[in-house]
Amino acid sequence: MANTRPKIILDCDPGLDDAIAILTAAHYCDLVGITTVNGNVGIDHTTNNALLTTQIAGLDVPVHRGAARPLIAPTMDAARIHGETGLGDVKTPDLTRSIASNNAVDFLCESARSIQDLHLIAVGPLTNVALALRQDPDFANNLASITIMGGAARGGNVTAVAEFNVWADPEAAAIIFTEAAPITMVGLDVTHQVLFGIEEAEHLAKVGTEVAIFASQLLEFTYHRCREFGMTGAPIHDATAIICVTHPHLYERSRHPVSVELQGEHTRGMTVTDMRPFLESLEFSDDLPAAHDVVWTADADTVKEHIITAVAAL
Ligand code: BDR
Ligand code: CA
Repeated sequence: MANTRPKIILDCDPGLDDAIAILTAAHYCDLVGITTVNGNVGIDHTTNNALLTTQIAGLDVPVHRGAARPLIAPTMDAARIHGETGLGDVKTPDLTRSIASNNAVDFLCESARSIQDLHLIAVGPLTNVALALRQDPDFANNLASITIMGGAARGGNVTAVAEFNVWADPEAAAIIFTEAAPITMVGLDVTHQVLFGIEEAEHLAKVGTEVAIFASQLLEFTYHRCREFGMTGAPIHDATAIICVTHPHLYERSRHPVSVELQGEHTRGMTVTDMRPFLESLEFSDDLPAAHDVVWTADADTVKEHIITAVAAL
């Protein structure tokens, strides 16, 4: 897919890295629409931030507001990473754009039905996607692919074993992992390998356009926040998931049964990934959870270069 422009809908909860994902997608994809979901911060903020990001980049992409809360789980945010409004301390202009609709789920179902070869990239909690699957049982079949930034085969970030997007609405994630197979899971296994430093922020600042300065400030805030949390650099998880769709040859993946843990006292929200090599020979292999493409590694330097190039070109 590297030299074509895939048609995509981006379901997101901006969020620092979501905003950079929007910019990256706008450069490499035909961005049919953006749907917003409660996640990093509340739905009013994530929706405003999606609108602001498109406004700053001069993108005429419709933004549809989605779910205000998880299916069942209590609402939990990630404001301690992304700041109270979701875009850190980055100064933004007054908002002049407005939403195209209040119904992201209708937009998702209708677009999947009517647009050929449409790819869905979901980089927030999976509430909207689960609701779309509930509304239209053919939703996943009508799409060319579903890629999520979420989960991890090994380890977590919110808990020892759970990644934020799955942990924030595990019941929604369980619906997707059970009913929409195969999806591509761009989890922490790979996103934690693509770490940005302050030099990428400085490079974008020098580019000097409004959008490059905006992205530079997002990167800088993320970098300092990540350093406070003991990391050596800043994973820009959601943009890494975009490049996985547009430049798949830069990533290594393999297919494994994955299920979402909903019960465990210490493991709720874990994406339990079965990495046993002999699975197909098991007599009970029919009883295994649905299998998905788990992404393990990336050519980190090239992925970063593509993200920076995208933002600089807008
Ligand atoms: C994911 O959680 C959010 O905080 C980020 O935007 C990303 O989608 C990483 O765990
Ligand atoms: Ca996100």
